[in-house]
Amino acid sequence: MSKLLSNFKREIFSTLEKHLQEPRMFMQVLTGPRQTGKTTLAQQALESFKGKGIYASADVPTLTDVTWIEQQWNSARLAVKQTSDDVLLVLDEIQKIPRWSEAVKKLWDEDTAEKRPVKVLLLGSSPLLMQKGLTESLAGRFESLRGCIDEIILVVR
Ligand SMILES: Nc1ncnc2c1ncn2[C@@H]1O[C@H](COP(=O)(O)OP(=O)(O)OP(=O)(O)O)[C@@H](O)[C@H]1O
Ligand SMILES: [Mg+2]
Repeated sequence: MSKLLSNFKREIFSTLEKHLQEPRMFMQVLTGPRQTGKTTLAQQALESFKGKGIYASADVPTLTDVTWIEQQWNSARLAVKQTSDDVLLVLDEIQKIPRWSEAVKKLWDEDTAEKRPVKVLLLGSSPLLMQKGLTESLAGRFESLRGCIDEIILVVR
């Protein structure tokens, strides 16, 4: 991507950046159709995040179960132990893991109970699957950034 393009930040970026600076309270969830800039936005958020960022994508055909989620989460928990900085875990294409929302709920609730400040950003490209998981398991635990991303970028070359 050219420098000019990678510097283009959507309005939603500042909302996300602000939420990620606040003390851990809700997971941030970004859903939207394919190719609408979710991953780019997450990378921009990681760049501006003051602390340790961990990014992992489930967009790998061989991944099939929640062990993957637990592994990524454990890296974030380890990072919390090793640093006094904030820690942000970004899980991209989370809806590709069957039963993702139950696993996320368990891990998130454990962190809440143990006052472990792992901040979390979930990205998903299937609004239907994301919505299903969010309503079934994660009520009251997330802030949704959905919808804000459906704008059109006009690129003048
Ligand atoms: N802020 C931006 N400025 C310029 N180009 C962008 C921006 N965001 C995304 N793009 C371009 O749009 C395309 C899609 O972006 P990206 O991969 O971030 O979307 P996505 O929603 O994660 O897609 P997918 O659902 O397929 O993973 C890429 O070619 C990327 O370079
Ligand atoms: Mg993506």
